[in-house]
Amino acid sequence: MSQVSVLFVCLGNICRSPSAEGVLRARLAQAGLDGIRIDSAGTSPWHVGNPPDTRAQAAASRRGIDISMLRARQVSPADFALFDHIFAMDDDNLAVLLRLAPPAYRSRVRRLLDLMPEQPLRQVPDPYHGDARDFEHMLDLLERAADAFLAELAAAHCEGFGP
Ligand code: 4NP
Repeated sequence: MSQVSVLFVCLGNICRSPSAEGVLRARLAQAGLDGIRIDSAGTSPWHVGNPPDTRAQAAASRRGIDISMLRARQVSPADFALFDHIFAMDDDNLAVLLRLAPPAYRSRVRRLLDLMPEQPLRQVPDPYHGDARDFEHMLDLLERAADAFLAELAAAHCEGFGP
């Protein structure tokens, strides 16, 4: 199986994108798949070096997912050549990524929720100023998006992928 690489991007890299990274890692571990490289990053440098927000860690932990070892980093121009799939959590992240991306790599950048055209939300709401319910809603979306991504890979004939 050829290596597939995925980068999740949000603003701070302490809530949505590390949660997305943890969810996809967990899905792959459950399926016994190890052919995907996964990382996450923020468009801002505000939380570089920090672990995920404690509320994101707690929400993930309630679903059996440990993201405590992740550390925030800022997205870098080198990421566009390194990752085949770059998923923005919202339109602000998308705009920053499309500005940063060399033209040849722009097609690698997508909104995460465009993996699920059947549901109305196009952006993963930022839970940073919210409460535990917002973190749960975020995880519900991220789990469905992870399954949609695995289904996309399966449809692209990457043997062994699929929800
Ligand atoms: P994230 O959430 O982009 O999902 O990591 C945020 C984290 C921090 C801030 C905003 C959003 N902040 O303003 O510091």
